[in-house]
Amino acid sequence: MEKQAVVVEKLTYDYPGSEETPDVQVFEGLDLQIESGSFVAVLGHNGCGKSTLAKHFNAILLPTGGTVHVYGMDTADEGKLIDIRRTVGMVFQNPDNQIVSNVVEEDVAFAPENLGVDPKEIRRRVDEALQQVGMTRYREHAPHMLSGGQKQRIAIAGVIAMRPKCIVLDEPTAMLDPQGRREVLSTISQLNKQNDMTVILITHHMPEAVLADRVIVMSDGGIIADGTPEQVFTQVELLQSVGLTVPETTMLMHELSKEGFDLPLDALSVDQCAQAIYDFIHAP
Ligand SMILES: Nc1ncnc2c1ncn2[C@@H]1O[C@H](COP(=O)(O)OP(=O)(O)OP(=O)(O)O)[C@@H](O)[C@H]1O
Ligand SMILES: [Mg+2]
Repeated sequence: MEKQAVVVEKLTYDYPGSEETPDVQVFEGLDLQIESGSFVAVLGHNGCGKSTLAKHFNAILLPTGGTVHVYGMDTADEGKLIDIRRTVGMVFQNPDNQIVSNVVEEDVAFAPENLGVDPKEIRRRVDEALQQVGMTRYREHAPHMLSGGQKQRIAIAGVIAMRPKCIVLDEPTAMLDPQGRREVLSTISQLNKQNDMTVILITHHMPEAVLADRVIVMSDGGIIADGTPEQVFTQVELLQSVGLTVPETTMLMHELSKEGFDLPLDALSVDQCAQAIYDFIHAP
């Protein structure tokens, strides 16, 4: 078992321009490693390069310079393409663009069918995947009748039915209502905890990143912060300087600290935050 799920070395990437427009350089010598089995959130404002990076993780884009390896496979190695796509699954923003069939369970079976998996095995995987995303009772429903959060969970089921080692989700909750967001986030978190799947969650909502083991903050094609959610979210001014809104709990603690109250900035959940304020008030 490879220790690193993703190893990015000196990655350079330019989108080719046209006669009238110049090339767009997104990365210039980016280095990054993501450990197998970890849950990593990648944050950053619009246009900083999150999607471009994600597309390098399963060879949708290939480096202009430098290398990207996933589970030891060089993404530029054409002979490994099928293996790479099977190892790293992708979920995108718009659930409607990811639905390919009129029946939920057929939709989930689509990718493993394309991989030539044995029909009995497909049955088993589809049942398991639907169960994992909590959608078993909708197996015979029409996907277009479902809510956004349910559709997105079906898209996730389709990816996990391929049994990838790593799942990359590019703003999977961006088009969902709060209920749909919660459903999808709890599904993602479970995949990591129960299945030991490497999860890379791209988002520009900081509160979603609290669930991760590690948070990477990007700005203009570079990494400006990298650590546990506590380590990263306490850098309130840095985050605000790149246009990110910190979680409300962190903001509250930050504002109170600025007023001279000695409170911990890393109380991220509402409960932790309330407890910290309680303890402060009741301190001898
Ligand atoms: N196909 C393309 N051709 C040219 N430039 C592109 C292309 N796709 C993205 N870009 C540019 O590359 C840079 C990085 O874009 P990218 O989509 O990776 O950012 P992002 O962080 O995913 O943004 P968002 O939060 O809006 O999804 C931006 O400046 C963008 O305009
Ligand atoms: Mg994007």
